[in-house]
Amino acid sequence: MTDKNATAHKTLRHFLQLTDLSRAELIHVLERARIIKDKFKRYEPYQPLHDRTLAMVFEKASTRTRVSFEAGMYQMGGAVIHLTTNDSQLGRSEPIEDTARVVSRMVDLVMIRTFEQSRIERFSEYSRVPVINGLTNEYHPCQILADVFTYLEHRESIEGKVVAWIGDANNMAYTWIQAAERLGFKLHFSAPPGYQLEAQRLSGMDPTVYQSFDNPHDACEGADLITTDVWTSMGYEAENEARKKAFANWCVDSSMMARAKPDALFMHCLPAHRGEEVTADVIDGPQSVVWDEAENRLHAQKALMEFLLLGQVN
Ligand code: CP
Ligand code: NVA
Repeated sequence: MTDKNATAHKTLRHFLQLTDLSRAELIHVLERARIIKDKFKRYEPYQPLHDRTLAMVFEKASTRTRVSFEAGMYQMGGAVIHLTTNDSQLGRSEPIEDTARVVSRMVDLVMIRTFEQSRIERFSEYSRVPVINGLTNEYHPCQILADVFTYLEHRESIEGKVVAWIGDANNMAYTWIQAAERLGFKLHFSAPPGYQLEAQRLSGMDPTVYQSFDNPHDACEGADLITTDVWTSMGYEAENEARKKAFANWCVDSSMMARAKPDALFMHCLPAHRGEEVTADVIDGPQSVVWDEAENRLHAQKALMEFLLLGQVN
């Protein structure tokens, strides 16, 4: 008789960072996202995850990540369990290692949104099933998977392109840099003094993949895509007032868009604060693809779940 967990162990893959997938695997998942989206749009049922269960653990708030994983798993024929810190024993100090051992004996896949990357790493170490990073302080790989997929839908190839990141050196920024290295594009980065990328986190990375600019307008020069995010990420709320002052000149507006290529796209992972990191005319304007970007969380993550549970489906 086949042992479910023994089988899972042999092929166990996690998605804790974008770089957990090779370039070829990323390209495969992006292509599967396209095919799976096409089926969805044609109302063609695709349920390869029948009888599989996804547990989602949220230690921070979410709209898009929860809805896309939950809807995606149901659409693929599976079931979902939604846990938060407060409604589970995690909120009463049960060690994450014990939670991992227990939850992963009962489900086939786990998605976690939490604080430190080390917390999801500890969970994965004790998990019998694949673990997906649904956002940590350090990375947001599911979002970047959807963002690259969205770029490809609109512009076919991202190789050799320039993506301008205007804002905080946060989970999104670092994951964009990982994507640039994996997929062969360049990231222009601009943040105010005190909010720069940490050299230590970039060590070992090809330095030609990213370039830092003091002036955000200069970072936008010739860009194919301009993207930004909130000035204050979840977990850093105490810094909100200081950040509002520091980032005041890092609001993506029409003058920044004008420095980019005429057909440049605008992206934001959402939720957005109009009038802070982006003006309303940009996020609600013709170059913005933020709603496609949000929808594509669904399709990209269905492809990711398929890959982690079934391997390379063709
Ligand atoms: N972009 C994103 O991850 O959105 P949520 O916080 O709503 O999940
Ligand atoms: N950088 C943001 C992304 C939210 C989806 C945060 O971590 O809060």
